[in-house]
Amino acid sequence: MRDEQTVMISQIAARDGQTVRLGAWMAHKRSSGKIIFLQLRDGSGRIQAVLSKAQVSALVWEKASSLTQESSLWCIGSVRAEPRSPSGYELDVIEIEVIQVAQGYPITPKEHGTDFLMDHRHLWLRTPRQTAIMRIRAVLMESIQSFLNSDGFTRVDPPILTPSACEGTSDLFHTNYFDQDAYLTQSGQLYMEAAAMALGRVYSFGPTFRAEKSKTRRHLLEFWMLEPEMAFIDLDDNLLLQERLVQHAVRTILENCTDELSKLERDRTKLEAVLQPFPRITYDDAIAWLQSQGHEISWGDDFGSPHETAIADHHSSPVFITHYPAGIKAFYMKPKPDRPEVVECADLLAPEGYGEIIGGSQRIDDPELLAARFEEHGMPVADYAWYLDLRKYGTVPHGGFGLGLERLVAWICGLDHVRETIAFPRMLYRFYP
Ligand code: 4AD
Ligand code: MG
Repeated sequence: MRDEQTVMISQIAARDGQTVRLGAWMAHKRSSGKIIFLQLRDGSGRIQAVLSKAQVSALVWEKASSLTQESSLWCIGSVRAEPRSPSGYELDVIEIEVIQVAQGYPITPKEHGTDFLMDHRHLWLRTPRQTAIMRIRAVLMESIQSFLNSDGFTRVDPPILTPSACEGTSDLFHTNYFDQDAYLTQSGQLYMEAAAMALGRVYSFGPTFRAEKSKTRRHLLEFWMLEPEMAFIDLDDNLLLQERLVQHAVRTILENCTDELSKLERDRTKLEAVLQPFPRITYDDAIAWLQSQGHEISWGDDFGSPHETAIADHHSSPVFITHYPAGIKAFYMKPKPDRPEVVECADLLAPEGYGEIIGGSQRIDDPELLAARFEEHGMPVADYAWYLDLRKYGTVPHGGFGLGLERLVAWICGLDHVRETIAFPRMLYRFYP
């Protein structure tokens, strides 16, 4: 039996004056010849451990001296309040048990290029900036789910291996399901529509895949999407839920992730300025405004990222662009009754150039119109017979949306690129580690 309690650094405040035992990695070492300062990290936090040559045994001094960056150790010490330390506490070392002296750790405090860091992503994750991002991502996932759970939603998990496409056939990852063709899911939406007809309000939250040949700051080949789907709603209900959800997520991070945001040097005022209701602009008005600003774009064109940035730059909250032309949107979107050339949909554009974080719509609920869309899009009806059944047996007005988690994280953290928003990003030229 050990005398000391093993604790995590995050729990140290409750242990002032006590002797504790920590499992840790050595992040950084400084020595004056008489005193050694070890910066220890254990994933839960960082603390400075101090040894004075005059007060520890020669053996302990030698063990501390042998530690290199990312060496692993057990450290026994007594906790002392230290107002000058960022954590408020220091550890006076009594005993050290070296687990391993790490040799030649490749990521040093000096600057490294992006390719080098991406090749060492498995180690890069240990840096304070990356752990702050991973923590914010986890808190966001949790806050989004608890918000929906307490709003009457049930989580349903759609399949990842699918026999057919949801968002068009051009960017599917192909695989085999024994002797059948199969694809990694691009979106669980069609399955969530079935689930909404069973449970009313549902959401899925999981990985989705797009074999997009685009190498941009906003695209991953594997990303996580939140997909709520609701029966008996219209587009207004849908947008209201989106803005409540996004506002809630932003507030949760502001309230619970102060340290993480400051580690990322995130300008909090930009997040504090996010306020419901979010502006709603029609596609028509957005096109007219872009043209008035000298952008070369015509009605019927999709927005590129400079267009999205130009629109979003005028607002401190995210902006809804509604009612896009049917021709540039998915087959399942419901036409506006008095103007069938546009559909009842909205994209939510984040401020500060982060682009589309949500795409959502009202779904076609009329069986005949849906069948006609399948025909127009050359989609094999036999593959989607189950989906058409949903319109045959008690069809109802319904809709939903997809929120891209990595884009949300990038925006809230203020990151230049989505590659840092997921532990091991999958990108066009990046499949390792
Ligand atoms: O607009 P998208 O394609 O919508 C759908 O897939 C719908 N079926 C969702 C639904 O209504 N249930 O994608 C939704 C969101 C985008 O707004 C974006 O945030 C994110 O998913 N997204 C990506 N994120 C990272 N990398 C990519 N390649 C992404 N493609 C889409
Ligand atoms: Mg979209």
